[in-house]
Amino acid sequence: MSNSYRELIRDEVRELPFYVPGKPIEELRRERGLTNVVKLASNENSWGTDPAALDAIIKFLPDIFRYPDSKAYDLRLTIAASLGLKTEQFVFGNGSEEIIKLIALAFFRAGDEILMGKPTFPRYSSVSKMMGATPIELPCNNGYYPLERILDCITIHTRAVFICNPNNPTGTVLEEEHLREFVSRVPENVLLIFDEAYYEFMEIPFSGLLFLEEHPVIVLRTFSKAFGLAGLRIGFAISSSELIDGMERVREAFNVNALVQVAALAAWKNREYLQQIIAANAVERRYLTNELEGMGAKTFPSQTNFVMAFFPGMGTRLSEQLLDKGIIVRPGGGFGYPDGLRITVGTREENSMLLTALRNIITNKVT
Ligand SMILES: Cc1ncc(COP(=O)(O)O)c(C=O)c1O
Repeated sequence: MSNSYRELIRDEVRELPFYVPGKPIEELRRERGLTNVVKLASNENSWGTDPAALDAIIKFLPDIFRYPDSKAYDLRLTIAASLGLKTEQFVFGNGSEEIIKLIALAFFRAGDEILMGKPTFPRYSSVSKMMGATPIELPCNNGYYPLERILDCITIHTRAVFICNPNNPTGTVLEEEHLREFVSRVPENVLLIFDEAYYEFMEIPFSGLLFLEEHPVIVLRTFSKAFGLAGLRIGFAISSSELIDGMERVREAFNVNALVQVAALAAWKNREYLQQIIAANAVERRYLTNELEGMGAKTFPSQTNFVMAFFPGMGTRLSEQLLDKGIIVRPGGGFGYPDGLRITVGTREENSMLLTALRNIITNKVT
């Protein structure tokens, strides 16, 4: 691209970082001529898609010549009823990532300050920059979201605070009392955005929904993790109808495809499958964590479907060497943890493959 063309790009957009997703399985197969590849890099559901969702997709396939329901009526009604909320308190998006962008488009202005932890989900910072707002990234305390520092940094310019709970990439969960105390100290004009992508995996789930009556709050949820629909894309926000109204005005009419609407409805209703996933994930997370610690790694306590593990002096090299063995994890360098690996909890077979490969790499290095 010639430089003069680059100048056509808005200043705020020209320097935005590209999101670096986990390496796709096919890409690693192509690059290294491998057949057996395990991906534990993007916190997908390692047990696969809910069979009820698959059935719903197959039944719906002949109808995909029609546009989707712009309001996702059936899904909205079902989720609203199960959470005891009104249908106008929801907006659906092409993944919760799209909702994060809708929030920025609807609420962030040039000059605003947007507070968040560091490390956390990188989209909060990039959508803030996209709008000409300033992301203020405050270091986590030993992996925990830095509520006290956030409070200290609230100024008259603060428009919003992102709270990722459980936090990605650390996996940690805030204490409910700390969060209550925090919310009581945040000024009423500051928007609180709770990203609860990993909510279903929390040991004792509690939500930013607790504060919906007393504060401008937006809660984000997704079907990409526990519900296993990452590839079809759907997430949603829950808020007051006034704030939802703002996001609806910047949403594309057909942002949520028809197949994922029926799939999400089936998955939402299939509580039995969800419970199986949560239970299997808890068992495997414990196994993975214990084995990693047995190898000398330190981990943050995770209540998600991933574990952040630290191998002093080895993180980046380990992730590269694992690729040679057909295993994709997320190197921690991009999160500011050069010694870290963020590892999605896999099935027992996947976890064992990873652990064996890690052991081999580490032992060979020492000898
Ligand atoms: C904390 C957090 N928020 C949001 C997302 C985006 O999820 P999706 O767009 O698939 O709903 C992710 C995905 O990894 C995440 O970890």
